[in-house]
Amino acid sequence: MTKVIAVVGATGAQGGGLVRAISSDPEGGFAARAITRDAGSEAAKALAALPNVEVVEADVADEASLERAFSGVHGAFCVTFFWVDFSAENELRHARNMASAASATGVEHVIWSTLEDTRRWVTDDRMPTLQGKYKVPHFDGKEDADAAFRDAGVPTTFLRTAFFWENFIYFGLGPKRDENGELVMSFPLGDAKLPAIASEDIGKTAYAIFRRGDELIGKTISIAGEHLSGSELAAKIGNAIGEPVTFHDVDPDVYRGFGFPGADELGNMFQFKRDFESDYVGARDLDYARTLNPELQDFDAWLVANGSKIPLE
Ligand SMILES: NC(=O)c1ccc[n+]([C@@H]2O[C@H](COP(=O)([O-])OP(=O)(O)OC[C@H]3O[C@@H](n4cnc5c(N)ncnc54)[C@H](OP(=O)(O)O)[C@@H]3O)[C@@H](O)[C@H]2O)c1
Repeated sequence: MTKVIAVVGATGAQGGGLVRAISSDPEGGFAARAITRDAGSEAAKALAALPNVEVVEADVADEASLERAFSGVHGAFCVTFFWVDFSAENELRHARNMASAASATGVEHVIWSTLEDTRRWVTDDRMPTLQGKYKVPHFDGKEDADAAFRDAGVPTTFLRTAFFWENFIYFGLGPKRDENGELVMSFPLGDAKLPAIASEDIGKTAYAIFRRGDELIGKTISIAGEHLSGSELAAKIGNAIGEPVTFHDVDPDVYRGFGFPGADELGNMFQFKRDFESDYVGARDLDYARTLNPELQDFDAWLVANGSKIPLE
C-alpha cells in the first residue's frame, strides 16, 4: 500500500525537496501530501501538477488544520519557519501543534527538522543572550522543541540540518562589493569550517529516512554536504563566477553591530560554529549523509547548478 507523507513547508526549500524526491520515485511506494496555507498559489499549483502529489491546506499555527492534513498519513515531515518573525517561542508553539496533531492522528513516523541547542556549549557570556534566554534562538528553540515530539510519544527521527548554500543567493550572505569594487564575504568564522548543504538535499535525505523507516526512529541524524572554511567558500565562488572573492574574518561583536535584521542572531550563530567547530563539524559525518542520499551535492556541484544565481552587488 502506498505510504503517504504529509510535508509541512512543501512550497519552501526543505519540504519542496522532499515532495520532489517522493514524486520523482514513482515506484518507491510513497506519495506526498504537500501542505500549504494557500492551495491557489503558483507554487502550490506547481506541486499539484507533479505525479504522486496532492496538495492540502493547513497552517502550523492551527492544530485542527494540521490534524486534518495529517489524517490517514504514514509519515509527516515537520519544519518551522523562524525567519518569518524571528521568534523561537513561536517555533516551539508550532512544533507542539505538529507533535500533538501527529499524536492525535497516529502518524507512524515523523521527521522533525531541528538543530542543536547551542546553550549546551555556550555556558559563559562570550555572546549576548537573545530573546531573554537563548544564545542562537533559531538553533536553541529547535532543540527545545525536540521534547515536544518526545513528550507526545510520536515516533520521530530528529534531522539536524546545516547552513544552506542558497543563503548566498536568497539570504543576503553572498559576496558584496567593497569600496574598491572588489567582492568580499565577511563572517565571524575565523579559520573554522562551515558545514553546509544544498537545501534540496535535505528533502532527499528525509525521503531516504522515511524509506529506512523503523531503524531510524528515535535517532538524531546530523547532515551536511561539505565542510568548508570561509576562505575555501570564497575561492570556490570566485572560480565559479570568474572573479576573485576574498573572505574577511570579522569580529563577532562587529558583525552583531552591522544592524541588519538578525545580525545579532547570525553573529552568535557564526561565533558558535567558530568556537565549537570540532563538535559542530564532527557531528555531521559526510560519508554517513552520503549513504542516506547518494546524490548529496558538494559545493562544487552546487555551484555548477547555482553559481550564476548568486547576486554580485
Ligand atoms: N537558511 C538556512 O541556512 C537554514 C539552515 C538550517 C535550518 N534552517 C531552518 O529552516 C527553516 C525554514 O525552512 P525552509 O527554509 O525550508 O522554509 P522556506 O523555504 O522559507 O519555506 C517555508 C514555506 O513554508 C510555508 N509556511 C510558512 N509559514 C507557514 C505556516 N504558518 N503554516 C504552514 N506553512 C507555512 C510557506 O508556504 P505557503 O506560503 O505555501 O504556506 C513557505 O513556502 C527555518 O526554521 C530555519 O531556521 C535554515
